[in-house]
Amino acid sequence: MILDAYLSAFAKTCQRAGGWYGLDLFAGTGLNWSTTRDAPINGSTLIALEAGSPEATKVIFAERHPGAFAALSHRTKSYGERAFRFNDDANRIVGDMLEQIPRRAPAFAFLDPEGSELEWSTVEAIAGHKRSHSRFKIEQLILFPTDMGFVRLAPDHPELVTRIYGHDRWKQIYERRGAGTISAEQARGEYVRLYAEGFAELGYETVLDRQITKQNGSPMYFLIFATDNDTGEKIMDWVFDRVRMRVIEELGQATLFEMESGPRERRLGDS
Ligand SMILES: C[S@@+](CC[C@H](N)C(=O)[O-])C[C@H]1O[C@@H](n2cnc3c(N)ncnc32)[C@H](O)[C@@H]1O
Repeated sequence: MILDAYLSAFAKTCQRAGGWYGLDLFAGTGLNWSTTRDAPINGSTLIALEAGSPEATKVIFAERHPGAFAALSHRTKSYGERAFRFNDDANRIVGDMLEQIPRRAPAFAFLDPEGSELEWSTVEAIAGHKRSHSRFKIEQLILFPTDMGFVRLAPDHPELVTRIYGHDRWKQIYERRGAGTISAEQARGEYVRLYAEGFAELGYETVLDRQITKQNGSPMYFLIFATDNDTGEKIMDWVFDRVRMRVIEELGQATLFEMESGPRERRLGDS
């Protein structure tokens, strides 16, 4: 719902450019099952291909799993050349994906890993694509899997956490949490802040985040949004809030998107 709401508003800002480019690195099968609606809902690639107007000139997507890729290829066939497919590891072929995006065109990337698959070098490559051609870097919306992903990985596979961050400064937070000097919630906040700092180092002006929780309120993951564009920031800020209201209006409290208090944080930029 967040992706859908953001892309329809984002598309409107691309009217003068006449189109925009979407990147979807962990694309899935094209459809998901909503347990709250008990019905199929579009996955990220179809959401991006359907968004507009103007519609995306191209949505470039990668899915590594052969079965998921076959399903997604079938579901995106009718979009013709607007759907540009890669059946490969997104971290390895992000350069080839970026080649499809003209360096001055408006572009948005959605990075939706299940666990630890998104490497920092991939985030860096996306941020660097338009460097010296436009003052706006490609906007990135990232699923940052705190509780579903790296907190569990840290003891046995610290190298995977280091790959997510691109450095090992996360270990200081892990050690403070292990020693009991910070709570689980404080550690979670610090992990997100440290990740957001990486975007500042890449030159992004603003990073917003929103926590997504389970129905019982326990934390699952964060959505992190990085942009240089004031309008992009305003839209996402509005979307983060609006989607929460809409979900509660439409479906009641027991939803996948139910929020704890203090849902939106601004990690960088002027407040
Ligand atoms: C959370 S799911 C994506 C869901 C999808 N974005 C949607 O909205 O329906 C993550 C997907 O990424 C795929 N995947 C995992 N590692 C990958 C990689 N390195 N490159 C490309 N795809 C990958 C998995 O097979 C899985 O289908």
